[in-house]
Amino acid sequence: MKVLVVGGGGREHTLVWKIAQSPLVKHIYCAPGNPGIAELAECVHIGAEEIETLRDFALAEQIDLTIVGPEVPLTMGIVDIFQSSGLEIFGPNKAAAQIEGSKGFSKDLMARYNIPTAKYQSFSVHADAVTYIKEQGAPIVVKADGLAAGKGVVVAMTEAQAIAAVDDIMLDQVFGAAGASVVIEEFMDGEEASFFAFTDGKNILPLASSQDHKRVNDNDEGPNTGGMGAYSPAPVVTEELHKVIVDTIVTPTIEGMEQDGCPYSGILYVGLMIKDGQPRVVEYNARFGDPEAQPLLMRMKSDIVPVLQACARGKLCQGSIDWHEKAAVCVVLASGGYPAAYEKGLPISGLTEAAAIEDLMVFHAGTALKDGQIVNQGGRVLGVTGLGDSVKDAIEKAYTGVQVIHWDKVHYRHDIGARALNR
Ligand code: AMP
Ligand code: GLY
Repeated sequence: MKVLVVGGGGREHTLVWKIAQSPLVKHIYCAPGNPGIAELAECVHIGAEEIETLRDFALAEQIDLTIVGPEVPLTMGIVDIFQSSGLEIFGPNKAAAQIEGSKGFSKDLMARYNIPTAKYQSFSVHADAVTYIKEQGAPIVVKADGLAAGKGVVVAMTEAQAIAAVDDIMLDQVFGAAGASVVIEEFMDGEEASFFAFTDGKNILPLASSQDHKRVNDNDEGPNTGGMGAYSPAPVVTEELHKVIVDTIVTPTIEGMEQDGCPYSGILYVGLMIKDGQPRVVEYNARFGDPEAQPLLMRMKSDIVPVLQACARGKLCQGSIDWHEKAAVCVVLASGGYPAAYEKGLPISGLTEAAAIEDLMVFHAGTALKDGQIVNQGGRVLGVTGLGDSVKDAIEKAYTGVQVIHWDKVHYRHDIGARALNR
């Protein structure tokens, strides 16, 4: 079969790498892809948000299955457009993707189906939001309602910070229309974990556990990022907790979406806060996590293509996924300065040496090819992912890869996975 992967980051490189191992697949296209992906797939110069052009391409090339990596095309309705042209596609439709696209939508869903999460209220009037903050006090969390590339959340330690965040979002409109309304919620204390489940709208197939590291610097300091590294399995998610998450969060979410006439198919990403063995939802995402996909898919033994196909067709039987016993750890190499401004176009060395290391994969995220040389192009540049018999071994493997790769001002965390070891 012919497969099209939409996107061009580390998550999509990992998906392409995993899909390429399937005996069912003859040819993979990726739009727009990146230089790492180009080693495994045919990259097509169509942006991930050019959804009509992608549909025309898929029709012309008779693509059998399309997999969407990022959230924006999902919230734009790429799935609806493909399906109305008779094309098979993996991911939620526009209505269901609101679970990520609108914080108000997801908070209301959780309230309706008693899914544990932080207490909250939505506001579209600035003065009301300020009054609520003064009533509730700090710490408190302010979120722009719409998509803000992971930057629309302010965890405010003081009332003044919270009010300043509401001013930025609602008055100065720093996130544009995404900030027309805000969700203000209770601050949750605890340990975060990411939980993923494949679903066809009815059946659920959970993945192994994982955790990422959101802050840019060691010891969880500095601003939030898209994710500076991830590992799987995550010891915080015990077998018992896994069951609680499925029973009290994932199942009621999928059943609730169906009951609301808005069935959700694809992969559901639940961001969790865990305290005293009790999970609560921080947020939902409508896609694979990045970088969580890197360690998760490196550990996945089963062929992913039949699972993706079954989700797209509404035929996910209650099977299971086989996982390698090994642990996997992904260390993100970022451009110095990220998540703020950074210099681009700097030549990267050591990729050939890293490729020769066993049980190590270097997934490209923000790279480009300039005069035959791989250079940094985005904030998160590479995801160096190692397998090992334990999390400790996988950490060593990943950092062995990190040591051989270099460019000017490269930045990475030195403590990826340490949280798992400290337990
Ligand atoms: P979100 O975009 O909703 O995932 O939020 C980004 C990050 O902000 C999360 O990964 C958490 O670290 C933090 N966060 C969001 N909501 C809360 C909350 N209610 N309490 C504590 N931290 C939160
Ligand atoms: N790792 C965080 C995300 O994918 O949103």
